[in-house]
Amino acid sequence: MTDADFTPATAAEARQLRDRLDAQGKRLVFTNGCFDLLHAGHVRYLAQARALGDALVVALNSDASVRALKGPERPLNNENDRAEVLCALKAVDAVVVFGDERATRLIETIRPHVYAKGGDYTVESLNAQERAALQAAGAEIRILPLVPGRSTTATIQKMHAPAAGRLRLGVLGSGKGTNLQAIFDAVHAGRLDAEVVAVISDQNDSEFLSIARREGAPAHFVDPGDNPKRLGAAAQKEIFEHLERARTDVVVLAGFMRILKEPVISAYAGRIVNVHPSLLPRHKGAHAVQDALDAGDREAGCTVHLVTAEIDAGAILEQGRVPVLPGDTAELLHDRIKAVEHVLLPKVLSEWRQRGLAVR
Ligand code: GRF
Repeated sequence: MTDADFTPATAAEARQLRDRLDAQGKRLVFTNGCFDLLHAGHVRYLAQARALGDALVVALNSDASVRALKGPERPLNNENDRAEVLCALKAVDAVVVFGDERATRLIETIRPHVYAKGGDYTVESLNAQERAALQAAGAEIRILPLVPGRSTTATIQKMHAPAAGRLRLGVLGSGKGTNLQAIFDAVHAGRLDAEVVAVISDQNDSEFLSIARREGAPAHFVDPGDNPKRLGAAAQKEIFEHLERARTDVVVLAGFMRILKEPVISAYAGRIVNVHPSLLPRHKGAHAVQDALDAGDREAGCTVHLVTAEIDAGAILEQGRVPVLPGDTAELLHDRIKAVEHVLLPKVLSEWRQRGLAVR
């Protein structure tokens, strides 16, 4: 196929499609955007938009209008290529290229039954003219949730970022993954210059792995072996291989309920960090929160520390304290502790180099 082979639809053709559907009592969905570098967020968004009716027309900003909206560096791909890639998606029935900054005139011509827009907008924050055109056309306005962690701008930033500065994290966990989520949130918010390059769990159906998949990070289940408590030798090696393949700088144990041994412990010495729900050296082990309650402690907390072969005993990097309150259950107290973990763990990681900690 050559460049000349692909021709986007015209506004008139899109209107004909709308009228054909209308005559059959069906609905045309319309959305618009730049779709510069297609990612899974776009694909899912467009599938959701298509599901709101019986056909989907995408109005694609022309190269000139993308430049006007996003600056002289954009678009990365020209309008014909962008239209061709979009048209290849199952969810998309036609693509119309438009040159205005807003889609108002196209909406007036096509008169879609449904207008879909990504969740960075609200009905109120839609452009006033576009909104008026939609109201005049009787279109239903639907705001669809954005898919977290995917954006063209973030992808471009990743490509430009100096590779030397960004910490490559391999995160291990077994449970709910709230600390993993806190790491992703800190990265998205620009508080932590890191990339989660491997997420590894001994629990295939854990929320921990679901979070990784939702965030688009490489997620690996490692079969721990037959012993319900131990991590077998094959699993130890497999974890090491995942970390190595991902060129991991720092290994983060975020609720990993098994003991990491060789070869990871030696290969990553000085660059494995754990978060533990007690004020170490008090209450080592797997039941630290309950142990604090049983001991009648007035104060509990969490510790971010380096990991050595001896359990919960490596150098302490940071601690945070919370009160034990009357009527506390282990669950209530643990939630209060976790809220502090979610701040401290990303903070330590963001300061990793300044603190002189090892990387590779
Ligand atoms: C945290 O409390 C952490 O201190 C401990 O395991 C828990 C993990 O919680 N090691 P989550 O899976 O991050 O929600």
